[in-house]
Amino acid sequence: MKITVVGAGHVGATLAQRIVDNELANEVALIDIVEGLPQGKALDMWESTPISGSDCFVYGTNDYADTKDSDIVVITAGLPRKPGMSREDLLAKNAGIVKAVTEQVVKYSPNSILIVVSNPLDAMAWTALKVSGFEPHRVMGMAGVLDTARYRSFIAMELKVSTKDIQALVLGGHGDAMVPLPRYTMVGGIPLTELLPKEKIDAIVERTRKGGAEIVNYLKTGSAFYAPSAAVAEMVESIVKDKNRILPAAAYLQGQYGYEDIYLGVPIKIGKNGVEQIFELQLTPEEKAALDKSAEGVKKTVAQIQL
Ligand code: NAI
Ligand code: 2OP
Repeated sequence: MKITVVGAGHVGATLAQRIVDNELANEVALIDIVEGLPQGKALDMWESTPISGSDCFVYGTNDYADTKDSDIVVITAGLPRKPGMSREDLLAKNAGIVKAVTEQVVKYSPNSILIVVSNPLDAMAWTALKVSGFEPHRVMGMAGVLDTARYRSFIAMELKVSTKDIQALVLGGHGDAMVPLPRYTMVGGIPLTELLPKEKIDAIVERTRKGGAEIVNYLKTGSAFYAPSAAVAEMVESIVKDKNRILPAAAYLQGQYGYEDIYLGVPIKIGKNGVEQIFELQLTPEEKAALDKSAEGVKKTVAQIQL
C-alpha cells in the first residue's frame, strides 16, 4: 500500500503523520511545490518511527515520479482561508492548483483512488473527477466526516457525554448551508430530539455550520487541520482495510437525491474500491429544501470553473 499526500502544509503533513503512526501504508510520499518543505517534514516524521515503532516509510519530494503507482492519493494542495474569507473565495487559485496536481497524479498513478481535501471542497472534487477522467467511485471529497465530527463534539460538550456515543450525519456541501440532521442524530441510541430542546439543537447546528470559520478566526493565519486530518485518516483506513465504513463524504451524484453532475456530502460506504455505495435517505420537505439550497450553492461555484 502506497499513499501519496499532495501538499505538505498543515493538513497534509498532519495527515501523513497520522498515516505513519497508524501504519496505514507501507510507504507514504509527501509532495509539495515548495522545495525542502516535504523533504524536511517527512524526514522528521521518519526519524520518529524508531520511537513510535512504525514500519511505514515516509519521504518528501517535489517530483511526481516519486509518487508513481500510489494506491491512494490525497490532495490537500492549495490555499487555506484567512479571517473574513469564504471557502468559495479560494476558488480561482485552488481550481488551477487542483487541476495541475490531478494531471500529474493521473500520469503517475492511473489506478489510484483520489481523496480531495482542497477548498471549496465539493467544487474541487468535481474538478479532480473531470480532469482525471477516473470513474466516479475513485474520486471522493472529505468534508462530511469533519463537519459531522464537529457537530458530534458540540453535542457531547452540551450533554457532557462521551463523543463515542454520538452517531450523527451532516449532509450537503462543505459550506455555511451544510445540513446537519438532528432527526438522524442518536446519543447512545436515544434520539437527540428527546434530550435537548429545539433552541439548543438549533444553536449547535448553527455552530457546526460555522465551525470552520470559528477556527480560522482563532488562528488568523490559516484554517483547521487536526480534525480535518483525522477525518481523512478515517476515510483512508476504511479503504486500506476494506472496512466498508458508512461515512458522510462528498460523492458524485448521478440522479441520487434528484441531483445530476454534482459533488455533495451524502452517506457512502467506503471500501477497497473507493465509493462502494451511496445511500439515499428519506428526507422531510424541510430537510430536502435545505439540501437543495446547499446544492444550489455548489452548482454556482462549479459554474465558475474553467477547466
Ligand atoms: P497550507 O497552506 O498549510 O498547506 C497547503 C500546501 O499546499 C502548502 O504547503 C503549499 O505549498 C502546497 N501547494 C500549493 N500549491 C501546490 C501545488 N501546485 N502542488 C503541490 N503543493 C502545493 O493549507 P492547509 O491548512 O493544509 O489546507 C490545505 C487545503 O485544504 C486548503 O484549501 C484548505 O481550505 C483545505 N481544507 C479543507 C478541509 C475540508 O474539510 N475539506 C479542511 C481543512 C482544510
Ligand atoms: C474547515 O472547515 C477549512 O474547510 C475547512 O475547517
